[in-house]
Amino acid sequence: MSAVYERLKKCYECFRAKTDFTPDIALVLGSGLGDYADGIKIVSVLDYGDIDGFPVSTVTGHKGRFVFGYVGDVKVVIMQGRVHYYEGYKMEDVVLPIRLMKLMGAKILMLTNAAGGVNYGFHAGDLMLISDQICMAPSPLIGENPDELGVRFPDMSNIYDKDLRNIVRETAKSAGIPLQEGVYIQLTGPNYESPAEIRMVRTLGADAVGMSTACEAIAANHCGMKVAGISCISNLACGMTDKPLTHAEVQETADRTAPLFKRLVTESIIALAKEIQ
Ligand code: HPA
Repeated sequence: MSAVYERLKKCYECFRAKTDFTPDIALVLGSGLGDYADGIKIVSVLDYGDIDGFPVSTVTGHKGRFVFGYVGDVKVVIMQGRVHYYEGYKMEDVVLPIRLMKLMGAKILMLTNAAGGVNYGFHAGDLMLISDQICMAPSPLIGENPDELGVRFPDMSNIYDKDLRNIVRETAKSAGIPLQEGVYIQLTGPNYESPAEIRMVRTLGADAVGMSTACEAIAANHCGMKVAGISCISNLACGMTDKPLTHAEVQETADRTAPLFKRLVTESIIALAKEIQ
């Protein structure tokens, strides 16, 4: 058994000892959406710190939890607080929670985040359906392959599942929620980009830039989960306006957009669940 899988199995056993809940859809909450989990019908919660073998950051200490419950009639597991590469975790640690949610039973993963807009057609406060990605952080699949989860050289031609994208797009349209669409690029962070780097990623084909998500989507795709992703464009990326970028600005726009974002997430989860039957 691979070391990665062995550790994952331990985490899974720890989770199973605490709850028999089996989620259908997994959701990762990005900036601004943190309290989404407090508004669902909660069945149980599990602090990351109570799971043996769960990544513990040497830099930031430990925060965050899994919330299990229902969105409408849909059984979900929600990550309230994600693990970022820039915090000093190894990539294997960053994606462990994603793989764990797969073992819990989740078939669909919805990833959300706050991202900088690179596309000049975008505005702060827009929502963007992720159509594809560029991962400029190291692949989370480097190292011994956990064969129990997926193959050594996985295909990545449909990371953000086309059917799921159609469903989220239609859901937004019916709900009257404007939705941009584009390519997400993940850089390591934690520094925001320079104007030259933003020109570079635009040339590469990116519409939005952030510090998470792409590595999680690779790991999820590797282990056979279907993935949907939505970004809140919390700001225009560095160099596109004449004021410096601050975390406070990112947080403020993400918070302001949260009510609309939450509505889209709820309606999308209910619509996506129909894909599972
Ligand atoms: N760059 C990188 N990550 C981000 C940004 C950005 O402009 N905004 C929110 N997350």
